[in-house]
Amino acid sequence: MSADRSHAAAHAALRLPAPWRLLSMAEGLNVDDARLKTRFAGIDLPNPVGLAAGFDKNAELLEGLSCLGFGFICVGSIMPEARYGNPFPRLVRYPSRQSIADSMGVPSKGRPFAVDQLKRRATRRVPVFANVGGFSSEQIADGINAVQPYVDLVEISLMCPNVLAPGEVFDEIAMLRGVLDRIEGRALSAIVRVPNDTTQIPDRFAELIEVCVSAGVAGLKVGGGRRVPEPGLGTGVGTLHGRDIFDAALANVERAAGFARGRIPIKGNGGVSSAADVLAMRRAGATCVDLYSAFVYQGWTVARDINRELAPLWQTSGRSSDVAAAARLAS
Ligand SMILES: Cc1cc2nc3c(=O)[nH]c(=O)nc-3n(C[C@H](O)[C@H](O)[C@H](O)COP(=O)(O)O)c2cc1C
Repeated sequence: MSADRSHAAAHAALRLPAPWRLLSMAEGLNVDDARLKTRFAGIDLPNPVGLAAGFDKNAELLEGLSCLGFGFICVGSIMPEARYGNPFPRLVRYPSRQSIADSMGVPSKGRPFAVDQLKRRATRRVPVFANVGGFSSEQIADGINAVQPYVDLVEISLMCPNVLAPGEVFDEIAMLRGVLDRIEGRALSAIVRVPNDTTQIPDRFAELIEVCVSAGVAGLKVGGGRRVPEPGLGTGVGTLHGRDIFDAALANVERAAGFARGRIPIKGNGGVSSAADVLAMRRAGATCVDLYSAFVYQGWTVARDINRELAPLWQTSGRSSDVAAAARLAS
């Protein structure tokens, strides 16, 4: 099956929550272990391993996904209006490297649809984060205001507007400032996804983190994805995820923790696929992680398998430099 078809098939399967509830009980997918409890950005998580943004873009699968043992589920990116996204194929798998190139182009059913789904969700047993995107600070701020009442945490996704003049550079910091001005007073329940390009420019990386700290933003998502040419994609170019980016992601988390100096907690992301990876992320300065590619390659037992191995090690592993910040935020 092509990657795009597998993605659609997984979605179809997860739309029916009842079998997943049974499977969850039969297979012990929810590892209920006090040693895994983690506080991130003021939110209590049952464990530190979440499902990253992009799988459940429209918040349609929360009932099924919440049976799989993740410590939180990040839905989105939720876009202001319905969008088709890029031409197919949009996904290419590299199984030997447990990696994926994607060129989805943020397809979305639009914010009203996602908000309606979130309003109706029955389960509250797993914290839900919502990644909110848009092509201007107004669009993103409106999205945050609309979604925030129905989720535990908002993740701000700064997207390059596709209206740049030739030679013009995307100013993600100006966009972030514009968003924060518009959601003043509520920034504490939002985290910022550091754009992958920003991590390549140390001064901007540091500046973006300073803006977040001074505005009282609750946390950061730091990853390691990068653009790659891929003739198998409809657009011929995509973003690389999975094992291939783990080392870069780890280095970025370490850099971010250095800039943050314990003032803001970090969610590490990129190529995480084992308990050892989670511990490495923690040593680099992350409080929790989220993953996507490992879910594709390891399937519905991935969170359970990681958490079982992690449970005896999590509390005694090297404390991340931002645990203190998380504790301060919590209080
Ligand atoms: C198919 C696919 C779609 C994605 N869509 C989104 C998205 O809509 N919004 C977003 O912020 N991140 C998106 N991501 C990025 C993931 O949230 C995550 O940062 C990335 O996959 C790296 O983690 P991984 O190496 O564990 O896959 C997507 C990733 C993949 C593979």
